[in-house]
Amino acid sequence: MIKQAKWIANSRPLEHICPVFRKDFNCEKAIKQCTMYITAMGVYRAELNGLPVSRHILAPGWTVFEKRLQYQTYDITSLVKKSNRLEVLVGQGWYRGRLPGPVEKNKNKYKEPAGLLCEIEIVYTDGTVSHIRTDESWQYSESAVRFSDIYDGETYNSDFSEYEFCPVELLEDIDKSNLIPQEGPMVSEQEIIYPLNSFVTPKGEWVIDFGQEITGYIEVSFNGKKGETLKVSHGEVLDKDGNFYNENYRSAKAEITYICKEGYQTYKPLLTFFGFRYIRVDKSPDGLTADNFKAIVIHSDMERTGYIETSNPKVNKLFQNIIWGQKGNFVDIPTDCPQRDERLGWTCDAQVFARTASYNFDVEKFFEKWLGDLAADQSEQGEIPSFSPNVLFHKKGYKEWCSASAWGDAACICPWQMYLTYGNVKTLEKQFNSMKGWVDFLTSQVNDRKLLDGLGRYGDWVALDAQPGAYKGATRIDLITLAFYYYSTEILIKSGRILGKEIAKYEQLLYSIKDRFKKEFKDYKTQTECVLAIYFGLCDNISDTGNLLNDMIAENGYRLKTGFVGTPYLLHALSMSGHTDTAYKLLLQEEFPSWLYSVNQGATTVWEHWDSRDENGDFWSPDMNSFNHYAYGSVADWIYGVAAGIETVEAYPGFARVRIAPQPNNKLEWLKAVIKTRNGEVSSKWQYTAEGIRYEITTPCSAEIVIEGKAYKVEKGQYVFYSS
Ligand code: BGC
Repeated sequence: MIKQAKWIANSRPLEHICPVFRKDFNCEKAIKQCTMYITAMGVYRAELNGLPVSRHILAPGWTVFEKRLQYQTYDITSLVKKSNRLEVLVGQGWYRGRLPGPVEKNKNKYKEPAGLLCEIEIVYTDGTVSHIRTDESWQYSESAVRFSDIYDGETYNSDFSEYEFCPVELLEDIDKSNLIPQEGPMVSEQEIIYPLNSFVTPKGEWVIDFGQEITGYIEVSFNGKKGETLKVSHGEVLDKDGNFYNENYRSAKAEITYICKEGYQTYKPLLTFFGFRYIRVDKSPDGLTADNFKAIVIHSDMERTGYIETSNPKVNKLFQNIIWGQKGNFVDIPTDCPQRDERLGWTCDAQVFARTASYNFDVEKFFEKWLGDLAADQSEQGEIPSFSPNVLFHKKGYKEWCSASAWGDAACICPWQMYLTYGNVKTLEKQFNSMKGWVDFLTSQVNDRKLLDGLGRYGDWVALDAQPGAYKGATRIDLITLAFYYYSTEILIKSGRILGKEIAKYEQLLYSIKDRFKKEFKDYKTQTECVLAIYFGLCDNISDTGNLLNDMIAENGYRLKTGFVGTPYLLHALSMSGHTDTAYKLLLQEEFPSWLYSVNQGATTVWEHWDSRDENGDFWSPDMNSFNHYAYGSVADWIYGVAAGIETVEAYPGFARVRIAPQPNNKLEWLKAVIKTRNGEVSSKWQYTAEGIRYEITTPCSAEIVIEGKAYKVEKGQYVFYSS
């Protein structure tokens, strides 16, 4: 339907000024139903008769635009009147903004002007139907948004009055085969946070602290004078002297400039977003105080499903930080971080966090959309880019952004996890070719040493056994590649079996990868090497490898050294090899490096580096130092799955049957986890009491409960057990 509308655009270049498109129309008869279909090259905000058509912000979202551009469908029946004015503001967004990398390197990939495509279908009570479609009758003008960019922020002149509506240009030769209906959940405003504190820093700057790192924007309301200016910068942390700091945003300016009109006014950015906890008010209209500000949290709509609470407030804070990390980075796509000039769908980050994410919130649709993009980004040879949507993939000279082990494996790991958590075979059906393509691609590479090493390009990213100042940890890159090759092949085989595909060749392949791995890696030199060998089932003797891992950790004062590749499986590998006590020691470790170290340092989200801020208060280089990177938050899946012991049974995915095997430890007095599964609520609590350990377990379905090695087959219900 929307395909019958014509792409329209501003007919003369507006540079950074955002156009507003306008259409007036009348409805002479009684209306039964009115529906709007709309999309843009950029991000849009549509208002009918002065009211927003939806809660959706930053629409149409971010996809592999060449192949998949979402259009949205809104029911606007309650907004239509006899005579109507539709106005649609279009900003650069992800489609036309500068993505990614430093300004000087960046050449905008999407050169088109701010295109708009829209259709309104009006069904009258007499059964007749009429359509309003973007065409030559629409007009456009410059708008009050004088500048807007995802990384750099927004400039808004609220005093702007020189609207001059002129005829639009038709973009006749644009192919519409990339249009798809909205797949993911919408991004919308979710929470409002009022300032915690407001102060003048030692440098004499006015800073407002919202007490929590969020993704979103501020809203400011005040009585102002025409021509006054408000200028705001965003930051995540204060430096060790208590000064505002945002060098780590790199080239992202992340600024707001607002020019006032006369009288009472309210402003919030319309076409961009920021990752921040602090704002610095660089310029202010007279009389403004912190009371004039609030922060609005945005993220994709996701229902909260997972909860963890323990007797240790610091672990609870860590869990809250993990939740905030997810909220801050699930903004239409799973991003690495929400603040610097990146905010990309890095594949490794998404794959390591996928399980935790799917327990914390219902993210099935969110991942379904992103996996659609991942598959659309896949090359004919099966390469999966390191981030998706991949704005650089097809560019010459950017080959280094292409496939990497543990990154590209997101193609297999993410759909498999969504299948396990939500039990939907369709996820596997949709992604099977992409999974197979990835495994076949690896097969085409791994027999050539150079190509094999190339795949390990990021290594055990930001591990602590890296050379000083380097990003790649000491774990051998070919070990990482072969281990993930094995894991992805195993997932492909399991998926193929479920779907009834021919997989014999891959069974043979799996066997040969293991054989090769064992021949090439007879001993393990780093924590991550042990972790991968244990977790992926690649070592000869799990108990020996577990002891080795345990010794490495003990020798290091019960501290980890793992990076992005090893950390997600670290506690699992310890538990699988009989060292759950050490896993608890790591979880509860407060000295650097550890999860609770960042909590003690006042973190409100999860950091990119174990030492994003060191014990002296100094920062890791601003080149790569995000304070909101969810990857290490993946530790929550060990708490859900091992400490509380809640797991779906693989043969009955989606928690159609549950296994609950809590593994208590007396370093905590009690621990409780709840997962609201598609099949009902599962909860597991254990507590040390005078009578021994008391377990309270609720299952919505048939379950196997394992207490201290003893298995109980139970039906839906609530159960109490004791053990000494
Ligand atoms: C991102 C990471 C990502 C990495 C890969 C970084 O810039 O922020 O999270 O996985 O690059 O090298």
